[in-house]
Amino acid sequence: LIVPCVLEMVKEQNLTTVPPRYVRSDQETSENLDDSSMSSEIPVIDMKRLYSVSTMDSELEKLDFACQDWGFFQLVNHGIDSSFLDKLETEVQDFFNLPMEEKQKFWQRSGEFEGFGQVNVVSEDQKLDWGDMFILTTEPIRSRKSHLFSKLPPSFRETVETYSSEVKSIAKILFAKMASVLEIKREEMEDLFEDVWQSIKINYYPPCPQPDQVVGLTPHSDAAGLTILLQVNQVEGLQIKKDGKWVVVKPLRNALVVNVGEILEIITNGRYRSIEHRVVVNSEKERLSVAMFHSPGKETIIGPAKSLVEKQKQRLFKSMSTQDYFDAFFAQKLNGKSHLHLMTI
Ligand code: SIN
Ligand code: FE2
Repeated sequence: LIVPCVLEMVKEQNLTTVPPRYVRSDQETSENLDDSSMSSEIPVIDMKRLYSVSTMDSELEKLDFACQDWGFFQLVNHGIDSSFLDKLETEVQDFFNLPMEEKQKFWQRSGEFEGFGQVNVVSEDQKLDWGDMFILTTEPIRSRKSHLFSKLPPSFRETVETYSSEVKSIAKILFAKMASVLEIKREEMEDLFEDVWQSIKINYYPPCPQPDQVVGLTPHSDAAGLTILLQVNQVEGLQIKKDGKWVVVKPLRNALVVNVGEILEIITNGRYRSIEHRVVVNSEKERLSVAMFHSPGKETIIGPAKSLVEKQKQRLFKSMSTQDYFDAFFAQKLNGKSHLHLMTI
């Protein structure tokens, strides 16, 4: 289903109120927010410390705790250059600010989720989020959509390619560390992510005249294995549900926000939890973020790791191919963690 471009709507019309399709009486908007004291507690993991022999064990324990208890952490010292991240910010801004005729070339084709648009829109009367997104599969290379990739402005394309390959290396390292701390056989984890399916989702949330009436992104949990997110221009808006309350993920300069997706919850047989999160918007400034999703290859069968099930002596989830899981995910509108039940035994 074709949805309007929120950024164009804001630019063209001098809106003072929000069009009805964006008014979210179906959502709790600003209430139930934790009084910010919690946000500083979102674990921070230092990637360098994960390697240093003297601190390795304690940092690994922190990683394990973060994935079990929070499903979210901020990753610092990840090795991606801060000047490169600045460049990425400029490129993303420029790309979303291309004239509409240019952006039209990248608009989603019906039935596909790549390109500009929104996802999980399944009916004409469904409420919409206050944001635009642009999605591309980046890996495996054979799965890149050439009608999108080849038309990207060359410098933007180069930046996306460099960024995605650096983030992919980080994801692989994190998967290996998680396997070691959970005592999942190394090869088992490597096999699952051997043919890693990586996609990028760039989010642009324009300022909104009535921010309390809308949501930037409906509460959901990610279908992916692991999501690595950059809060590109350091504007607050991401919130995660912790013990029934919304907690703000404060942008930390140059940090990456990492979160456990449902597929990782399945693989770890429930040890690591995918957490519901949402985005709220504000009236002053646009918010930009770049999410990179890492999942097993589309044909790979996902299910709880055998070595873990043997130890835990119970199996919480069924098995299914990654493709089937994603098809089921995109066939529904976003609604918290509602699709994980498909896999629950
Ligand atoms: C997402 O959950 O996909 C995006 C979150 C964000 O924009 O911070
Ligand atoms: Fe998400």
